[in-house]
Amino acid sequence: MSAPRGQFSSNIGFLMAAAGSAVGLGNIWGFPTKAAGNGGAAFVVVYLILAFLLAYPALMAELTIGRHARRNMVQALRGIATGPISRFVGTVAGLGGILVASLILSFYAIVAGWMVAYLVEPFASLVGASHITDWLTGDSPARNLTFTAIFSGFTMLIIASGVEKGIERWSTVLMPALIILLLLLIAYVLTQDGAMKGLEVYLMPDFSQFTPELMISAMGQAFFSLSLGVGTMLIYGSYLSQQESLPRLGAMVTLIDVGIAFTAGLLILPAMYVAQEAGTQIFSASGELIAGPGLILQVLPALFDSMGTAGMFVAIAFFALMVIASLTSSISMLEVPVAFSIENLGMKRKPATLLMGLIIFALSNMIIFNVYNSDDPLTMIARVSTEYGQPLLGVVLCVFAGWIWRRDQLLTELQKGHEDIERTLFWKIWPWYVRIVCPLLILAAFAVSQGLVG
Ligand code: PFF
Repeated sequence: MSAPRGQFSSNIGFLMAAAGSAVGLGNIWGFPTKAAGNGGAAFVVVYLILAFLLAYPALMAELTIGRHARRNMVQALRGIATGPISRFVGTVAGLGGILVASLILSFYAIVAGWMVAYLVEPFASLVGASHITDWLTGDSPARNLTFTAIFSGFTMLIIASGVEKGIERWSTVLMPALIILLLLLIAYVLTQDGAMKGLEVYLMPDFSQFTPELMISAMGQAFFSLSLGVGTMLIYGSYLSQQESLPRLGAMVTLIDVGIAFTAGLLILPAMYVAQEAGTQIFSASGELIAGPGLILQVLPALFDSMGTAGMFVAIAFFALMVIASLTSSISMLEVPVAFSIENLGMKRKPATLLMGLIIFALSNMIIFNVYNSDDPLTMIARVSTEYGQPLLGVVLCVFAGWIWRRDQLLTELQKGHEDIERTLFWKIWPWYVRIVCPLLILAAFAVSQGLVG
């Protein structure tokens, strides 16, 4: 036997970690603003359907493969492979997952660094250090470098402590804190003038916007939000005990993820309309709701400023929420290359974390100093990794679970922790679903989004 692997000590620990990975900037920032720009509740409804009909089955593929193999994505897919071709594809997809997880973390850490800077800002203004507050909220390479380094350092510290003492322990503390902060913020914002208008925009469906673009946007969001394709859920599944029912745990992770995304909409859209009421511009010159960095870095801070002393506490709570959400996601991304280095390269956890953390930090620096020479390098890396990398790797994972893996072995794995699975609706539907519907749907959506059809 090789060195003992880490394992979650309880199913709550796994749930908090996997939900922590899923719940991130994508839920609190991405989901509400996409909903606002795509027909409000029409987007919410499509998203809910896709989350359960497409993302949940794909999540189950990752969790099941991971728990069966008890290895990282490269080893897991090679283990399922039945011949040289599938072994080669498994290796390439496994390495691709590591690359894409690292690329996602490289831009995610920069955005999370902004959140840390904005969290520090109220404290700096409290002690009257106005030159520092300007630096904290100005978009300079030095500021980005500093706070990306701080955020990446925290991520590395947690991952260096291992599965139970690092990932599980921190997720179990941070996730409840995130939910409490979110609910407190909603309670406060809903009492402010203008909030009801925001709720209306969020919850009134505009089905005229029900287009292929809406479907694709909702699908991409669901994939990103459930951290699919890159092996994070696979590796978390590999740390899960065999006494737990996978379909049940996977459904709970999906429910928490969707629930928090929906709840975050009850904060962000009302907050935008409260900001408008307070005189802040919330529509761009072309008449669209400001949804990009401007929303979090200008509209909401302007709102907090207009709230006087209370605004300072609201700002601290809001940016603490964003930092927590980012951290429980970033650790899951870093665990992907770290687990590979431990299991395939024979490294110890601490040096593996340091090495992989520094490589990814170097990738972040390539974005900060725009080595790519692009107009917007962050968006470019974000698009390549989430619009191409995640869905295409998702297809490979579904194909491995649905076509390459033997059905009886799949059943044996799912029976662990769920003895009567064979008689459930899940077993009647899911294997076919992951075999045919998921890959086809993902590929179709991908083709439409690339303008290949439609
Ligand atoms: N699910 C995270 C979010 O919604 O912000 C993002 C993410 C985490 C994507 C982990 C991919 C990943 F491997």
